[in-house]
Amino acid sequence: MRIVLVGPPGAGKGTQAQFISSHLAIPRISTGDIFRFNVTSNTELGRMAKTFMERGDLVPDEVTVAMVRDRLSEEDAQEGFLLDGYPRNVPQAETLKKMLAEWDARLSVVLELVVDEDEVVRRLSGRRTCRRCERVWHVLYDPPTRDGTCDDCGGELFQRDDDTEETVRHRLEVYNEQTSPLIAFYADEGVLIGIDATGPVEEVTSRALAALRPFVR
Ligand code: AP5
Repeated sequence: MRIVLVGPPGAGKGTQAQFISSHLAIPRISTGDIFRFNVTSNTELGRMAKTFMERGDLVPDEVTVAMVRDRLSEEDAQEGFLLDGYPRNVPQAETLKKMLAEWDARLSVVLELVVDEDEVVRRLSGRRTCRRCERVWHVLYDPPTRDGTCDDCGGELFQRDDDTEETVRHRLEVYNEQTSPLIAFYADEGVLIGIDATGPVEEVTSRALAALRPFVR
């Protein structure tokens, strides 16, 4: 299965991607995580991406597209994948379509997580991420047993640099201007399904898996 998750920052894409990819046994490919790994490792890609990410702007398409092509060419992505955070605008979606066509493949489904802006701001202001295993937590909605420590692996939790209120507002503007046109793009392609992404995490996971079930082969 080849799945794209789409939705505003804080919609729960990373949270749901963990469960969906493990349930369907397909790799989760998050462009945000790949960029953050490169920033932390201080690679050339990371140094370039850092300034855009800190502002909440998109990293330029030519860089992102090359990175995604490399990742999708890897062995574990040949039978399917779950893309989280890519595509982020219509040109990236068109490039993905051409890339997959070169490999005689196409997207199975695009799952939109629908949630309003006030909820997004509440979610992002309390988000904490594990440095070691990248598991996402929330100080109120999904707290770890011990403050600052990941229940899954014992790693240290941190707050992302782009989760300040000002940057979150800018990321929402970028989403509305550049990413939300993907909804119409994928509706025209006949692959879009939207689900209500509010309520407890487990309920959203159940809705997501139910929406994806008809596409599982
Ligand atoms: P990226 O990492 O993709 O960030 P994003 O899209 O802004 O999404 P987030 O990771 O902020 O949110 P999410 O939807 O994954 O929510 P989460 O599950 O964490 O991108 C970061 C940057 O990288 C971009 O700004 C850009 O610069 C660059 N970039 C990445 N991809 C790019 C591309 N393709 N092109 C160009 N640039 C690119 O949940 C959020 C919080 O809510 C958590 O605390 C979680 O515990 C909590 N939560 C989740 N679900 C629920 C629920 N049901 N109820 C209550 N709380 C919940």
